Amino acid sequence: MTFAINWDYLRDVLGLLRWLHVFAAIIWIGLTAFFWFMESHLKTPIPGGPEPTDGVSGETYYLHGGIFYFRRYKGGPDHLPANVTWHPQWYAYGTWVTGFLLLCIVYFWKANTYLLDPSVADISPVLGVTICVALLAFSWLFYDRLSRWLIERERLLVSLLFIYIVAVSYGLSHLLSSRGVVIEVGAVIGTWMAGNVLFVWEPLHRMFFAAKSEHRIALDEGLMAISWQRAKHNAYLAPPVLFAMLGVHFSFVSGSRHAWLALIGFMIVGGLLRYFYIWRNRSRVIVAIPAVAGALLIALVIWLAPSTAPAPAPATALTAGDAGTTGGGDAAVTAGRAVFAKAGCGSCHTLTAAGAAGTAGPSLDQAKPSAALVSDRVTQGVGTMPSFSGKLSAAEIKEVATYVSTVAGK
Ligand code: HEC
Repeated sequence: MTFAINWDYLRDVLGLLRWLHVFAAIIWIGLTAFFWFMESHLKTPIPGGPEPTDGVSGETYYLHGGIFYFRRYKGGPDHLPANVTWHPQWYAYGTWVTGFLLLCIVYFWKANTYLLDPSVADISPVLGVTICVALLAFSWLFYDRLSRWLIERERLLVSLLFIYIVAVSYGLSHLLSSRGVVIEVGAVIGTWMAGNVLFVWEPLHRMFFAAKSEHRIALDEGLMAISWQRAKHNAYLAPPVLFAMLGVHFSFVSGSRHAWLALIGFMIVGGLLRYFYIWRNRSRVIVAIPAVAGALLIALVIWLAPSTAPAPAPATALTAGDAGTTGGGDAAVTAGRAVFAKAGCGSCHTLTAAGAAGTAGPSLDQAKPSAALVSDRVTQGVGTMPSFSGKLSAAEIKEVATYVSTVAGK
């Protein structure tokens, strides 16, 4: 018996990192949301209340699980108690690290299938991956420098950052596959958010804690302003980045020819909804915001709808039996067409000859798989592609393999 590494299986298994990625992200965003909620509910303490209020700038009796919590000490108490709890930042780092590893495993590993699209740009996997990694690093430096420089010009800064994201999406749409664009834009924004934690809050907390321990009053106003600026940015960036991360699962977005613009549209919807909640937390309900977001959402859905009516056309074209156009009446090819339609391969794969335009899986026109590969994938399944053994007979699998390997890319 020979031992060989099954790389596809290994890649699938490494995809388990998603579990960790989503878990860490939920806690990160959840903790952030909780602090925003808390900030907006803390009230100036009432002197003569049940507790001493020295140094307390806000308090509330937050009821959770039968226990009351929460006070805010701006600048901290004069003498730092021994029981200070540090805000856990590991979830942010965990989210970024697992996210980057997933990017490597899912997109870089099979760059030709997932990241690149020769009909968009004919670049090598090495070049594509290098561009993606370099863009993450450059984007962080650009964002951080610009934000520090324009610390007092928030509106200008936000406009420039928005333009940057639009430009990046548009630029990438000329280099990467549409899924590649969606995930890379998400990674750029996710890197901003994680960078804020690592390069802004981490040093701030350490500095602040050290100063407090030495009984210095060390509220560096400049640093505090940057910290507050980044807190606002992260609050707004969370919904857009979530959309980008999930975007590849919406083939009407990631499969659209205008994926980059659709992505921006959905991100704006997310940002608007965040804006609405920020005002609502301050007890102002501005109905116009969700109304605009809703209108934009509907416009996007209409715009992205499949253009000409006959989406089910492939099925009819298949039964119409113009066998002469593919493989000159080869019985296996003709039979394979019917299997392709019956098994619903087209809901996930693009195959022009079959009129199929699915985008959940790689385009078969692009992959041009051999009959052996098709047969293997259909029998075993791979990643999110289910196994068809049991659903299709061995003969049918052979037929669909012959069909796909014959017509792909034609
Ligand atoms: C539920 C969606 C789905 C369906 C249905 C589906 N596939 Fe797939 N398929 C995928 C995904 C996703 C991949 C890529 C998996 C990976 O590499 O992680 C894939 C990969 C493949 C590959 C390998 C491509 C390559 O270059 O690595 C072939 C060939 C293939 N599918 C053929 C078929 C055929 C034929 C059918 C119908 C019998 C079918 N698929 C049905 C989602 C699907």
